[in-house]
Amino acid sequence: MTTTRTILITGGAGFIGSHVVRLFVTKYPQYRIVNVDALTYAGNLENLSDIDDRPNYVFEKVNILDTAEVKRLFDQYQPDGVIHLAAESHVDRSIHSPLDFVYTNVIGTVNLLNEAKRLWSPHPASPQGEGVSPRFYHVSTDEVYGALGETGFFTEETKYDPHSPYSASKASSDHFVRAYHDTYGLPVVISNCSNNYGPFHFPEKLIPLFINNILEKKPLPVYGDGLYTRDWLFVKDHATAIDKVFHEGKNGMTYNIGGFNEWKNIDLVKLLCKLMDEKLGNAPGTSDALITYVKDRPGHDRRYAIDAGKINRELGWKPSVTFEEGLALTIDWYLANAVWLRNVTSGEYQGYYDRQYGGVV
Ligand code: NAD
Ligand code: DAU
Repeated sequence: MTTTRTILITGGAGFIGSHVVRLFVTKYPQYRIVNVDALTYAGNLENLSDIDDRPNYVFEKVNILDTAEVKRLFDQYQPDGVIHLAAESHVDRSIHSPLDFVYTNVIGTVNLLNEAKRLWSPHPASPQGEGVSPRFYHVSTDEVYGALGETGFFTEETKYDPHSPYSASKASSDHFVRAYHDTYGLPVVISNCSNNYGPFHFPEKLIPLFINNILEKKPLPVYGDGLYTRDWLFVKDHATAIDKVFHEGKNGMTYNIGGFNEWKNIDLVKLLCKLMDEKLGNAPGTSDALITYVKDRPGHDRRYAIDAGKINRELGWKPSVTFEEGLALTIDWYLANAVWLRNVTSGEYQGYYDRQYGGVV
């Protein structure tokens, strides 16, 4: 099959990135998809074992901080699209190691922007021919907008007000992406999404951590009073939104992505406990008994809620599953994938690349 586009997807071995890679590789066999990932603790090639033999899929173990390697990728593959997801993504880790977030999320993003600018300048045109416009897509987060009170939603016009080192680094990278559009005419698009959940979610984040802890009969550490609110979206719906924005979004624009699905943490945890008890055949209340209130996260944002009206009106995107359906699918996936869970929690998957590729990296 003739290749019509080449897209670099960064962070493709991570949680959301693996769903985006799978969607693009299977939906667009005419595209060449190059998955660029450093395989940090959060990157796992097992997430892609069902599609990694496809002829239109290539994996490149590259750290986006390595400027020579990033340049090689752009020279070698001549991409006409970048979908940038590689990041340090966990808020709690950012509180302990903020510089790691500055390096990857800010400097890594600027490295990619520089190479896209070099390849696509002075007049952005597709290296692969007419009819295809190049595009740099930055996948970002609603956390850049800060915290909401009891009411209201984040819109695309909400002022940036990040509070954690993670959200400050993502806000900074968003600003750089816009600056490259405004200063150099780089064709960019940004989306800011709410909390994702679903298969392949690393068990340091609330939902997979608590599923894992219930399975291991460990305490469920609820931060502070548990009344913090998050807006949850099934990860496969985020992937379809990314597909829409990449292909149909307008250059220089921002699109908020979310499912109008707010939950107070404690209500979500109680629902999860109930569903897990049903699936495991436990007596009602078994998992609830594991709930343990612990010291709050510093700088904890009280409430997030996305107004996803623009992407719905302009691009016709909406989520495909309800939260109840998505959560049930997620729990079923974790119960059916005990080996994956064991590998990532034991750190064993860190050796996966070496086992797969004979240590040649
Ligand atoms: P993740 O932590 O699961 O995956 C991140 C991936 O990036 C991993 O595969 C990791 O190996 C790779 N990576 C990290 N540093 C790298 C580097 N220096 N060079 C190359 N690769 C590197 O993250 P995720 O939850 O899948 O999030 C993906 C993106 O989506 C991030 O940019 C995040 O900010 C954004 N986002 C996440 C959510 C969410 O709820 N998880 C919501 C909105 C936006
Ligand atoms: O909003 C989008 C963001 O969602 C993404 O940009 C981030 O990459 C992603 O990690 C996520 O950030 P959160 O901090 O919201 O996710 P986390 O799962 O860490 O926490 C969700 C909520 O649950 C938050 O209010 C903190 C709370 N929490 C979390 C953990 C891990 C607990 O109460 N106990 C916990 O053990």
